[in-house]
This record gives sequence, structure tokens and C-alpha cells, in this order.
Amino acid sequence: MATLSYTHRFIPASAPGRAPLLLLHGTGGDENDLIPLGQTVAPGAALLSPRGKVLENGMPRFFRRLAEGVFDEADVKQRAHELADFVTEAREAYGIEAPIALGFSNGANIAAAMLMLRPEALAGAVLLRAMVPLKEAPAFDLTGKRILILSGSMDPIIPAENAARLATSLSTSKAEVEHISLPTGHGLSQQDVTLAATWIART
Ligand code: MLT
Repeated sequence: MATLSYTHRFIPASAPGRAPLLLLHGTGGDENDLIPLGQTVAPGAALLSPRGKVLENGMPRFFRRLAEGVFDEADVKQRAHELADFVTEAREAYGIEAPIALGFSNGANIAAAMLMLRPEALAGAVLLRAMVPLKEAPAFDLTGKRILILSGSMDPIIPAENAARLATSLSTSKAEVEHISLPTGHGLSQQDVTLAATWIART
């Protein structure tokens, strides 16, 4: 494993022609968490999996929050740039194309912030239980990028209105957005896995 600016795991591709995935864990996760999910939804794809650098009571995250669902937006911005810079470093070190982000919860939120601030860093994104990461984002252009948002209609952390606002903001910025609300809570369900796999296979 190369020494890069984030602690991470990298698993090289074992099947040709699949876009690499950038795996972004939720609060309290680490670089190992989403590897099995990545292998299930994109068999044979290269997997790049960093560990969030912010610690909240010892739990890794990708940016600071002031309370549940209330973000330190200056930190969101700084960390989105830092993570996009890591993607650039890793692409050079491992010789991979721009990845599709596969993020869960806090990881989905930093992926959404990267789409808004550094769209060139990602080829597309699967956002699992994401919310609007920034109240005000500069204008951004997501032409040619596909984004899948999977929300839970019973998610106690993310109001349906918030996830809908994220979908609108990304599609207004010209991404091809698919937003599906599943009859579940904040945790992932088998349907998330099936829908993400089907969507990635179409990439
Ligand atoms: C966040 O802080 O990004 C969201 O509240 C989701 C979470 O990580 O719990």
C-alpha cells in the first residue's frame, strides 16, 4: 500500500473495464467497512477505501459536525478538498481512472460535498442515506455524471425533504440523478445492495 495522505486500503481491479469505486464509510467506520459491499456491488472493480480523519469521541468521520445533522460547513469544505486531493494522489499512485463514490451516511455526505466543490474528482456516485452537506454551495456543473441516491423513508436522521432537496440540487446542476426512497430506516437493506449493483452494472 502506498503512503498517501489518508490511511486507506486499495484493492486492484481483477476484472477489466469496471470503473473503480471510492468507498466512504459512515460515522465510526474505517477503511475496512465497505470493502465487502464494494466487492458485492461491483465484482472485480478496483476499490479505494480511505479512513475519515476527523474523530468524534474516537469515531472516524469525514468532517466535523456540531450535532446530529448539523454540520461544521467550513470543515465540510476543507475536508471535501482534502479528500479530492487524496483521490488525485491515489489515481497517480495506482494508475486508476476517476472513481465512482460509494458512500454511506457521513461518507455519502462528503461525497455529495465533493460533487459540489470538486466535481472532476468523481465519475459518479452512489449515495446511501445522504443529506444536503452545504446550505450554500457555489454553482457547479455535473454534466455527464450519473448519481444514484437511496434514502430510507423511515430514516430518523434524514428528513425526506432534505434528501429530496439534495436530489434536486444535483439534477439542477445537470447530473443524471436517480433518487429512490426505500421502506427502511438509516441502516442498509438488501434492496440497497441490489439497486446499487444494478445501477453500477449499467455504468
Ligand atoms: C453526518 O453527520 O454526516 C450525518 O449525520 C450522518 C451520520 O454520520 O450520522
